[in-house]
Amino acid sequence: MRRKLAAGNWKMNGTNASLTELQALIAAHPTPQVDILICPPATLIVQAAGLSADSPLMIGAQDCHAAASGAHTGDISAPMLADAGAVAVILGHSERRQDHAESSTLVAAKATAAHAAHLTAIICVGESLAEREAAQTLDVIAEHLRHSLPDSATAANTVIAYEPIWAIGTGLTPSPAQISEVHRFLRAELTARFGAEPAQGIRLLYGGSVKPANAPEIFALADVDGALVGGASLTTAEFSPIITALE
Ligand code: G3P
Repeated sequence: MRRKLAAGNWKMNGTNASLTELQALIAAHPTPQVDILICPPATLIVQAAGLSADSPLMIGAQDCHAAASGAHTGDISAPMLADAGAVAVILGHSERRQDHAESSTLVAAKATAAHAAHLTAIICVGESLAEREAAQTLDVIAEHLRHSLPDSATAANTVIAYEPIWAIGTGLTPSPAQISEVHRFLRAELTARFGAEPAQGIRLLYGGSVKPANAPEIFALADVDGALVGGASLTTAEFSPIITALE
């Protein structure tokens, strides 16, 4: 059975003052029935990992470099993230693909580096509105998945997040049928590549305007193993009911 995962992506939000939200989250979920992961900005990983050390809350990062070390000003490597206390890293988020022109090939190289550092890679895939309207959704997802997922991927070290770009931060969400169609397709693609058993173990998250109000309906769908939550993960008041809906 796949263990459910509630993952929060704080994006470029959060200062030391935001750590009180993590304390509240830990207090609200002392013995969760699902995995809980928060990916704060890199500046907070050490403090967040320290705070959550004796709790079930896990801390992750939002990106890493494909190299382990070297002359890459401003970048952070996967071994550095692991050293700081991260256990996972989000890779290929559409904001990285857009803001930093990241290709799927680069995402795969980063995921290989993450795996080598014993980090779980949360690899994001998803179509734009124009691509959905042009009926290209599954083609885009297939391309993202095929080229962003390295051969080192296993059920233990990889999570896939379906994040339709048009649903991120917009308050729009795909219909249950649209989410199901993509998650079913992802599972089939994973099965074709890795075989039935490994593919069955890889967790598939949905991300894009997940809120306490829509979480129960989304989590009821087959092949949705949790969520990658942006805005609603910033406060315990909003994230906690999403965790509870997943339990
Ligand atoms: O990675 C999470 C994300 O892109 C969704 O953001 O704010 O729509 O929940 P949001």
